[in-house]
Amino acid sequence: MRLEGKIALISGGASGIGRAEAILFAREGASVVIGDLQQAQANEVVEEIKAAGGNAAAVQLDVRDGDAWASAVAFTESTFGPPMILGNNAGTNFRLSWDEQTPEMWQTVLDVNLSGTYNGIRAVVPSMRKAGGGSIINVASSAALKQGGGGPAYATSKTAVVGLSRNAALAHAGDNIRVNALCPGHVDTPFIRGSQPHSENTWSTDIANPENYERRMERQPLALGRLQSGEDIAYGALFLASDESSTVTGATIAIDGGSTLL
Ligand SMILES: NC(=O)c1ccc[n+]([C@@H]2O[C@H](COP(=O)([O-])OP(=O)(O)OC[C@H]3O[C@@H](n4cnc5c(N)ncnc54)[C@H](O)[C@@H]3O)[C@@H](O)[C@H]2O)c1
Repeated sequence: MRLEGKIALISGGASGIGRAEAILFAREGASVVIGDLQQAQANEVVEEIKAAGGNAAAVQLDVRDGDAWASAVAFTESTFGPPMILGNNAGTNFRLSWDEQTPEMWQTVLDVNLSGTYNGIRAVVPSMRKAGGGSIINVASSAALKQGGGGPAYATSKTAVVGLSRNAALAHAGDNIRVNALCPGHVDTPFIRGSQPHSENTWSTDIANPENYERRMERQPLALGRLQSGEDIAYGALFLASDESSTVTGATIAIDGGSTLL
């Protein structure tokens, strides 16, 4: 029960890494609010947590919308109390080359991945001050640490999330609010398996394609025998959410099976 009595708001908690985070945090004693575009899937995660004896609720959230963030925080406060943990997981990508990626796509990726993270930080800080401190966990990417090619928007947005995390960490240190960035590698979630409205894949980029799965395995040197799972990343987030990391702030932590070593 490493998060007993804590209250967490998790964006992108309906799927993948955010879902694993929500389930793990609830198992460790936190009351969890899931904010996501996909309300039906968010409700399924809530039911799963409740069935295991945990506390959870869902709220509709588009991370691009500052007012929606304010409503999500107000909902969290009235349901469980002020959030002292924020997991910023919502993300989007267009897997297209520089030439194919349009200015509109560039803007969408920056709006969701970067401004969505900024909006979340802005929205929770007053609650965290009320709670006497907090921990903000921003999911960046190994794309922030190593250029993997492809179009310009995703790597730029994730590199900026690392910068934003360090800036916010210093700005809010005096309020005992910690801000850190996690950089996952190749994680087997619907982001890269199948095709989602926020993360479209073709057969050449879908990890259901064995050739593509193998290509990603070759870029992950640790002998896991599989790509990473959402849980692998959620365990890092659990450390950052818990008091075990009470002196860790402004850190950028790669959880990537060594993929940025290559
Ligand atoms: N899967 C990977 O290999 C990988 C690697 C590095 C970083 N990441 C990052 O991890 C984060 C989580 O990705 P995942 O793999 O769990 O993907 P996922 O597709 O399983 O989950 C992403 C969630 O974000 C939600 N979302 C998307 N746009 C949103 C918006 N505007 N407002 C609210 N919710 C929104 C989706 O509905 C979905 O539930 C993302 O930021 C992604 O960039 C993923």
